[in-house]
Amino acid sequence: MTKPVWIRHASQLATLAGGSSSPVVGAKMNELSIIEDGSIWLEDGVIQRVGTDEELELHYRERAKEAQIIDASGKLVTPGLIDPHTHLVHAGSRQNEFNMRLNGATYMEIMNNGGGIHSTTAATRAATHEELFAQSKQRLDQFLLHGVTTVEAKSGYGLTLEDELKQLEVARQLHEAHPIDIVSTFMGAHAVPREYKENPDAFVDVVIEEMIPEVARRKLAVFNDVFCERGVFTPEQSRRILEAGVRHGLLPKIHADEIEPYEGAELAASVGAVSADHLLRASDKGIEQMAEAGVIAVLLPGTAFFLMAESANGRKMIDRGVAVAISTDCNPGSSPTVSLPLIMNLGCLKMGMTPAEVLTAATINAAHAIRCAHEVGSLEVGKKADVTIFDVPDFMTLQYRYGINHVNTVIKNGTIVVAEGRLA
Ligand code: NIG
Ligand code: FE
Repeated sequence: MTKPVWIRHASQLATLAGGSSSPVVGAKMNELSIIEDGSIWLEDGVIQRVGTDEELELHYRERAKEAQIIDASGKLVTPGLIDPHTHLVHAGSRQNEFNMRLNGATYMEIMNNGGGIHSTTAATRAATHEELFAQSKQRLDQFLLHGVTTVEAKSGYGLTLEDELKQLEVARQLHEAHPIDIVSTFMGAHAVPREYKENPDAFVDVVIEEMIPEVARRKLAVFNDVFCERGVFTPEQSRRILEAGVRHGLLPKIHADEIEPYEGAELAASVGAVSADHLLRASDKGIEQMAEAGVIAVLLPGTAFFLMAESANGRKMIDRGVAVAISTDCNPGSSPTVSLPLIMNLGCLKMGMTPAEVLTAATINAAHAIRCAHEVGSLEVGKKADVTIFDVPDFMTLQYRYGINHVNTVIKNGTIVVAEGRLA
């Protein structure tokens, strides 16, 4: 049995309480439910009590000796951060393409010439299960060091049934072996593999008839995602793929309006997607329809930054009533980072979001985007004891002192996994 953990005297304990039943929208995204001189007792992997230090002192005085006490004075305590959109499991690296892009080539040109997703697909197909596991585990360790305790992970670099299953199985094994919880998404429709270049509809049929049923049968994913983009999958193909997923119990997600406006946001609303992600070029109509249909916008400002494109308009989406979550999009092509705190900085600087909104977006709304808000995303009694402690006095400073890893301590399921900024 691990000892109880008692975090005391947080200068700000941002609980994010009150948003578990539905995604947080509008002005509520600015409400962090902060407790000053905050205190929290974690035991049996679960949050047992949250309040001021004075309140918890009354309650736990007698048991103080049993607990590992963490003095959080001068520090910010938040729910463990949640990354709701990653391409975690992959092999290889694309720094050559980075250099090509710096010299003027576009992301789509590189992909259409057989690089991009195709290059990572070749590397991922060639990698053994063990190699994929080892490389992805390193990334997970880095996520943990950046305060992240839950990640969504997509397949989509296999593009054959066997290779997609390999990625998803690695994700499942990592979920079991690593402190970070992984929620899996099947993304067989990430690119049309070169073998099907002349007949993309035949590949769509394979995704629908062979891959989705098998992934669902093995319970390897919760979500089904598609890259709906001109030159990749059309809105019609995307709709067929997402509807097929729904028939097998896989909830729809969509890479929408990333490079060009393509009515991806509208499609997300029409199929009742849990989230539409990217949305750099989403139309006003699409944004309106997402708000009405309750589709969460998962925004990825690191991708816009890294592709040197204009960011999604997070400000407009929030003002129009869309629930916004934020994510790294961690992948080897368009956003090779694990620093969710940096992405939050970009949310403020490039998407017009407030420091409070980006924290809501990376915790409770991120939890909703992967259907985990009943157990993570806020510091409330009964939820998993997933907590991040930053070496800054308040949430404003976390955004102001940007690009620095301020994580001091991470607790996952009640166990200290990062201490003094290092893996414990
Ligand atoms: O979210 N746009 C499609 N998928 C990823 C990039 C994948 C890659 O380039 O390897 C994204 O940007
Ligand atoms: Fe992505």
